Amino acid sequence: MGIDMDDKIRLAVVGCGNMGASIIRALSKKERYSIIAVDSDEKKLKMLSGEIENLETHLSAKEIENADIVLIAVKPQALDELYPILSELESEIFISIVAGIPMDSLSKNLGRIHKVARFMPNLAAECKKAVTAVCHTGNFLEEELSVVMDIASSIGSVYLIDEKMFNAFTGISGSGIAYALETMHYIALGGVKEGIPYPMALNIVRDTFESAAQLQRHLESEPMSIVTRITSAAGTTIEGIKALEEGGFGNTLMNAVEATSKRSKEIEEKYGR
Ligand SMILES: NC(=O)c1ccc[n+]([C@@H]2O[C@H](COP(=O)([O-])OP(=O)(O)OC[C@H]3O[C@@H](n4cnc5c(N)ncnc54)[C@H](OP(=O)(O)O)[C@@H]3O)[C@@H](O)[C@H]2O)c1
Repeated sequence: MGIDMDDKIRLAVVGCGNMGASIIRALSKKERYSIIAVDSDEKKLKMLSGEIENLETHLSAKEIENADIVLIAVKPQALDELYPILSELESEIFISIVAGIPMDSLSKNLGRIHKVARFMPNLAAECKKAVTAVCHTGNFLEEELSVVMDIASSIGSVYLIDEKMFNAFTGISGSGIAYALETMHYIALGGVKEGIPYPMALNIVRDTFESAAQLQRHLESEPMSIVTRITSAAGTTIEGIKALEEGGFGNTLMNAVEATSKRSKEIEEKYGR
């Protein structure tokens, strides 16, 4: 059947919490989509309808009609209740952003052969700066895949990766964004200890993170070769680097990614049947 590219693409978003709502807000600015927002919580639908003109809303996925694509944005615990409803829909293309649920589990539970794509975004979807991993079942037409990538890129940058890397991706980005924020907080606290008020210290740290990211992007060099340029002999930076090493900074961050990835695998084992 495929998507009729001459018509508006009807996209149903099931679950309008943090992530679903961010995706709806981003796509509502694009002419090519007609969005159906579905959430069991009426308040969330009212809030979105207040922001977006002519938004079609429903309290249950049972009400979805003629959706070209269904994007699943509920918590993993909600899936068991949702699968029988979703499997009755005519839609051929499903996108899931549910953490820890593999594509074969989605396909199996949706009951017939579908085209399934999986996204792993992070919370920066709220400001269209998410970093989103995408994988798919490989049976999409080229133009369908370009729509899937357009949906993912509406909330930020996109990496098409093998599903095997999804748990690790959660460690470095989906959850990893939290570690970046924690690091910002503790550097700012260091500033407080040395006499800079917290709000000012935090702004300075935020801009420093942005300048580090921009510099790395500009030079396309690995971080340590840039660090070497900053670290002069018997200077200030080497003292800080030594303190980081003594505190096990590098090892701690790698452990955080490993722990997240392990938890992501556990969720996969619990809910991804
Ligand atoms: N937040 C992140 O940073 C992040 C990053 C990557 C991936 N994810 C994934 O994205 C998914 C959504 O996360 P979130 O933070 O947006 O969750 P959320 O804020 O809890 O949103 C989920 C929404 O779905 C609604 N819902 C539950 N069951 C439903 C059903 N049967 N039909 C319609 N709506 C239903 C919930 O309503 P109630 O509140 O009334 O239950 C809630 O409004 C999760 O699977 C998560 O793993 C999240």
